[in-house]
Amino acid sequence: MDNIIEEVKKRIDIVDFISGFISLKKSGRNFKAICPFHQEKTPSLVISPDRQIWHCFGACQTGGDTISFLMKWNNLTFYEALKELAEKGGVPLSKTDVADKEWQQKERLLSLNRIVCEYYHYLLTSHPIGEKARNYLTTRCIDQKIISIFELGYAPDSWNSLFKYLQKKKFTPSEGVNAGVLIQSEKGTLYDRFRKRIIFPLFNPKGQIIGFSGRTLKNEGEAKYINTPETTLYHKRETLFGIDKAQDAIKKKGVALLVEGEFDILSCFRIGLTHTVAVKGSAVTYEQLLLLKRYTQKITLCLDADFSGQETTKKAIADAEQLGFEISVTTVSPYKDPDEAITHDITLFKKNTENPLPIYDFIIHTAQQRYPHSDALSKKKIGDDIAPFLLTINNPIVQSYYVKKVAQLLDVEPRSIESLMQKIKRQKILRKRIPLKRTMHETNRFDLMQKYILHYLFQEDDPSVFLTTMQHIFHTSDFSIIAYQKILNELVIFLKHNTTFEIQRFIQSLSAALLPVFDEILLFDMVIFDPNVNEKTSTRTLYELKRQSLKNKISIEMREETPNENNIKMLMKDLSEVEKKLTVL
Ligand code: CTP
Ligand code: MN
Repeated sequence: MDNIIEEVKKRIDIVDFISGFISLKKSGRNFKAICPFHQEKTPSLVISPDRQIWHCFGACQTGGDTISFLMKWNNLTFYEALKELAEKGGVPLSKTDVADKEWQQKERLLSLNRIVCEYYHYLLTSHPIGEKARNYLTTRCIDQKIISIFELGYAPDSWNSLFKYLQKKKFTPSEGVNAGVLIQSEKGTLYDRFRKRIIFPLFNPKGQIIGFSGRTLKNEGEAKYINTPETTLYHKRETLFGIDKAQDAIKKKGVALLVEGEFDILSCFRIGLTHTVAVKGSAVTYEQLLLLKRYTQKITLCLDADFSGQETTKKAIADAEQLGFEISVTTVSPYKDPDEAITHDITLFKKNTENPLPIYDFIIHTAQQRYPHSDALSKKKIGDDIAPFLLTINNPIVQSYYVKKVAQLLDVEPRSIESLMQKIKRQKILRKRIPLKRTMHETNRFDLMQKYILHYLFQEDDPSVFLTTMQHIFHTSDFSIIAYQKILNELVIFLKHNTTFEIQRFIQSLSAALLPVFDEILLFDMVIFDPNVNEKTSTRTLYELKRQSLKNKISIEMREETPNENNIKMLMKDLSEVEKKLTVL
């Protein structure tokens, strides 16, 4: 097994691989990127091609190899990721290699879902039982083509037809429950979750079926939609309906159209707007935005017109802004939703989606409509509505543009808007009371300096030059961390035996115990050490390091029972020289 893992990792270069997902920038020996696993503006994901590893120095504080990256990216188990990479790298993998239980269970549920989908699809398209549902879809303008693209189905008016079918297909009742398509009553009896409903299979971006939703044929009396509950496969927060079919169009068009419901998507696809995905009625989550971010930087929201007041929407807009999305909005008014708008006026709907309003213009517009009068109280209310959104704008130029716009509109000074924003900001901070996270770099600058110096040393194609400079200033023993001393010694030995420095060969010469430490050094992000890092930083740091080391040595000596006065004197002399150097650096 270990051989296979090593072979897979050898065949797939981590830099090539990760750059297929996010854009990387070269930074010394390493590459850096905005971490895709959390919200950030400055890149804190570092990738080392030499060691074939990555690490996020930001909020995640995690890292690993190609396999763990793929696991995180696609929410996979170890074996799933390994399997995918093995296929990609052309490494043969036998079934026994991947005897992972979690993975096998997931595979079982996926194949169960596939069978459920086909069963319902068959009933809808080819069985007399599906006639009513077929007629219903016709009334909603859904033709055969859309039915087959989305693999729509029909769950019949029965408590156990799926249950029996799954039995026939050799699935256990508990697998049906785990997949969310069967329900176990308190008494223990099992029955079908979806009955007398149009079925929409829910796909992940890879096109695997992770769950279902079902719409009743009636228009009242019971829940209009029911959905698979959270399962090991289906996570509502991370799911965008239609993403499997829309992703290519989104990439091509450079924008995603975001709607609320299943029928909105079907109708959009029907008229050729195939870059559409749906949040299924709920607010846009951070996870969904992260998913979209893989395909585009631009979103057009096509939601209900009265949405701007909702806290969740504010949060979503703030998230999207943070993630660097360009957001615009198109309204469907006077219609209820895109589906209705399309049924009534395709041309208008298409025109509107092609010319959406930038989100902040839309918010201003909505607030104005809500408070149409020009008295002071209305102005105050408009300001209160808009200011929280203005606050989320990332780009200062864009922000200032809208502050001015709102000021003009309300006929007040921009200063008033700004002070309102400040007030809201203060309230927010008070409410949040962000706990001050003590990061390791704040706790021990001495450790950090040492790490920085070693990192800097190994960034060089030929570290011997900087090593010589270093050795003029201090000795290996000035490092307080023993592993660092050892690595430095190894380097000295390596350079003694080799005329040229080759990092791969050097890595091979390190003991297994030193490797993790060396990885940390290689991955170290200089910006964490000093955001204004420049040419001079390394020399200055060498002296700072020396100063700290001397101070430490002096204090150790002074704490001795019989301090060696001579030694202290010498150390003090060295220290004052270092201090002198530092003043001119
Ligand atoms: N929804 C849900 N559960 C409900 C109601 C709604 O999951 N009980 C989701 C569905 O994905 C639905 C979306 O929220 O498509 C929007 O709800 P709504 O506007 O009420 O329905 P429509 O999309 O208009 O549904 P339809 O066009 O089928 O009437
Ligand atoms: Mn609708």
